[in-house]
Amino acid sequence: MPNILVTGGAGYIGSHTVAALSAAGYSPVIVDNFSNSQESVITRLEKITGAQIPFYNADVRDGAALDAVFSQYSFAAAIHFAGLKAVGESVAEPLRYYEHNLAATMSLLAAMQKHGVKSLIFSSSATVYREDDPVPYVESGELGCSNPYGWTKLFSEQIIRDVAAATPGFSAVLLRYFNPIGAHSSGLIGEEPQGVPNNLLPYVTQVAAGIRPQLSVFGNDYPTPDGTCIRDYIHVSDLARAHALALGFAEKNTGATAINIGTGRGYSVLEVVAAFERATGVSLPYRVTARRPGDIPEYFANPELAREKLGFAAELGIEEMCRDAWRFEQGRKD
Ligand code: NAD
Ligand code: UFG
Repeated sequence: MPNILVTGGAGYIGSHTVAALSAAGYSPVIVDNFSNSQESVITRLEKITGAQIPFYNADVRDGAALDAVFSQYSFAAAIHFAGLKAVGESVAEPLRYYEHNLAATMSLLAAMQKHGVKSLIFSSSATVYREDDPVPYVESGELGCSNPYGWTKLFSEQIIRDVAAATPGFSAVLLRYFNPIGAHSSGLIGEEPQGVPNNLLPYVTQVAAGIRPQLSVFGNDYPTPDGTCIRDYIHVSDLARAHALALGFAEKNTGATAINIGTGRGYSVLEVVAAFERATGVSLPYRVTARRPGDIPEYFANPELAREKLGFAAELGIEEMCRDAWRFEQGRKD
């Protein structure tokens, strides 16, 4: 079974991808410094996959540590999740974000170069599109970011493109995720934010669980049908599956290819609230508050390139996303 290096493999998307890779016949090897995840995720992944998952507690920016891991395995490819991801924090601490995320990308590329590994799947984001791009966002759209986190994604894309252009036989897939939510059907892994959640679904499940009194809906005066913002939510297990398909694509193609991973369908905040209530039978107290600075009224993916290049289409709907997120939250409480 081909060995795949997964940086950040203990995190939210990384852990689901490790499960998907294992199911698709790959042998994932995790490098994670557990700065935003727990080591117990590894045991839970072993329960899900029935396989032993090798892991290394190391910082991807540590070239020597990475070199040691690359020396132990012959990797067919690397999937790069490790990095900092809080948009607001990146505005307050731009240097930390640029230093961390760009150093992590370059350190991994250097190790790949040294060990002759020529296949990379990178976690990019829909945040690389310009806010005024027409929806649905298409890969050939204008790029540009409104916060340092986004720029670290766009700069990382560029660095990877340059390395791919300079390295014969190099293949990179830049997956631009829309809004991943939900959790693994086992209820064993899911999103585990530290402190007060920034993102909608973890906040919703914590309100439903009684941890927080009510949801704040950030603004209902946007130019959308119900006035609340519209996003393209995608089940994290669908997103994880796209990585396994991207590995297959990378095997057969060279150069760098950016691909949207979304469903192609947007839901407003109030539609998500309603879907959650339908899926779980739990009623969700909320109040409308001021807009959150930086939020864009509406965006969703054009998912056609993913279909064409990867044979990928999202399968799980919004209620399944809510149901699975809720199952995971309830498991955490027990
Ligand atoms: P996460 O924080 O749950 O996972 C990241 C993992 O990387 C964590 O386990 C963390 O401990 C680890 N990590 C961080 N820095 C590291 C380092 N220097 N060395 C080793 N390990 C390190 O985040 P996630 O939601 O799973 O996101 C994964 C990737 O996808 C990130 O690059 C993120 O920017 C990107 N992304 C996420 C979203 C989203 O909405 N969750 C959307 C678009 C893109
Ligand atoms: N929202 C609320 N109340 C909350 C939290 C969120 O109303 O308590 C609203 C937001 O205003 C937004 C929507 O729910 O309209 C989704 O917000 P999230 O914070 O869940 O997600 P974003 O679309 O703001 O951002 C996410 C990731 C970013 C990534 C971006 C694009 O957090 O890292 O998608 O991929 F860059």
